[in-house]
Amino acid sequence: MTNRSVLSSTGDTKVLPELSERIKNTNVSVIKEMMYLAAQESAKGKDIVSLGVGLPFYPAPKPIHDHIKKVLDTKKTIDKYTPFPGLPELRKLFAEKATESLGFPVSPDELFITPGSMSALLYSMLTLINKGDEIIIPSPYFSSYGEQVGLAQGVVIPVAMIEDKKNGFRLDHKKIKKALSPKTKAIIINSPNNPTGAVFSKTDLLELAKILKGGNIYIITDEVYDFLVYDNLSYFNIATIKELWPKVIRCCSLSKKYGLMGWRLGYLHTNKDLLMHLLKVHDSNIVCAPHISQEAAIAALTMPQDVVKDHIRWLGDNRAAICKRLDKLPDLFTYVLPRGAYYVFPKYSLPINSIDMAKKLLYEAGVVTIPGIGFGPEGENHLRLSFGSPQEDIHEVFDRIEKWWKKDKK
Ligand SMILES: Cc1ncc(COP(=O)(O)O)c(C=O)c1O
Repeated sequence: MTNRSVLSSTGDTKVLPELSERIKNTNVSVIKEMMYLAAQESAKGKDIVSLGVGLPFYPAPKPIHDHIKKVLDTKKTIDKYTPFPGLPELRKLFAEKATESLGFPVSPDELFITPGSMSALLYSMLTLINKGDEIIIPSPYFSSYGEQVGLAQGVVIPVAMIEDKKNGFRLDHKKIKKALSPKTKAIIINSPNNPTGAVFSKTDLLELAKILKGGNIYIITDEVYDFLVYDNLSYFNIATIKELWPKVIRCCSLSKKYGLMGWRLGYLHTNKDLLMHLLKVHDSNIVCAPHISQEAAIAALTMPQDVVKDHIRWLGDNRAAICKRLDKLPDLFTYVLPRGAYYVFPKYSLPINSIDMAKKLLYEAGVVTIPGIGFGPEGENHLRLSFGSPQEDIHEVFDRIEKWWKKDKK
């Protein structure tokens, strides 16, 4: 198996024989691994700049903070648990939003509040997967999916996307059809996509739906970036295809849209029967999403939404900035224009693997990038760069890479 762990050779993770198989086969995601190495460098006094972790630079909007201040002064129960599926008022608000975006009625008891979409994804894996079950994931894919499937003792079946220079990364539904087996339990669809910036087209998703409808395969949709597409491109959510229900699990989040990552707030939406089983994992894990964060979500959903347009515009400006800098290094990087989310996934020209490439850039240029191999086999020879970072960091990272590259070529 190809090594996808940056820390496997640094001595930071010792193998303890008594550990469960599921933990032995799981890594901290490659993104956090690189941030761990970067923190070690910073602790030694080195000046490190990062396009590593996927954080939008903007803070949560003021009405959310104002609401929280008020709630702390006035809501007597704020220190207590909420009902385990979440505050009824918030479930109702999410159900209304879902009804609007999906185009069919969603009731509050088809969803529950989770600490981010990450938990919703893990709950889905733990609820569906038996040892050896296969999960199809268009590849490259968000690194944590691989670790979560591993924790549930399933097997990731990566299916290469088409790296189309003109139209961006695309789903390959023919290859997906070929990858189906009696052991296939689910497919994960993440559009807009981390790490490729792909926005899967309606045509491709309808083709995929033709293959999946009426079958036993669950469609897990990770909708973290559903608000974030550029160039007036239209976003099509596979969950709107009614024929795929009840085999759909939607993992939704407020992290990126409202800059609320640290509040850990999202929701899981599926059919009511499955929901009751997913809630077993939620209850045994955390009881309920943090009460204060649920209040923050109520404020986010009820405040004026213009600020989200600002977020999209600012990230669009960052996309333009990073692409301009990439264009100035054509002998080092080639890339596909991201259509959504805030990642670009360039291929580099050096004949070394992506872990060595990311380490080289960290130790020699003082910049954090994420090795593509962490995003599945198709990610090798690529790096993931996040342009959610402040624009000055984008420029500083590229100033350093340009200087390093000039020196390297001498
Ligand atoms: C594709 C994808 N899914 C899930 C997450 C985690 O989101 P949340 O903060 O809602 O747990 C991220 C965060 O970067 C992501 O990129």
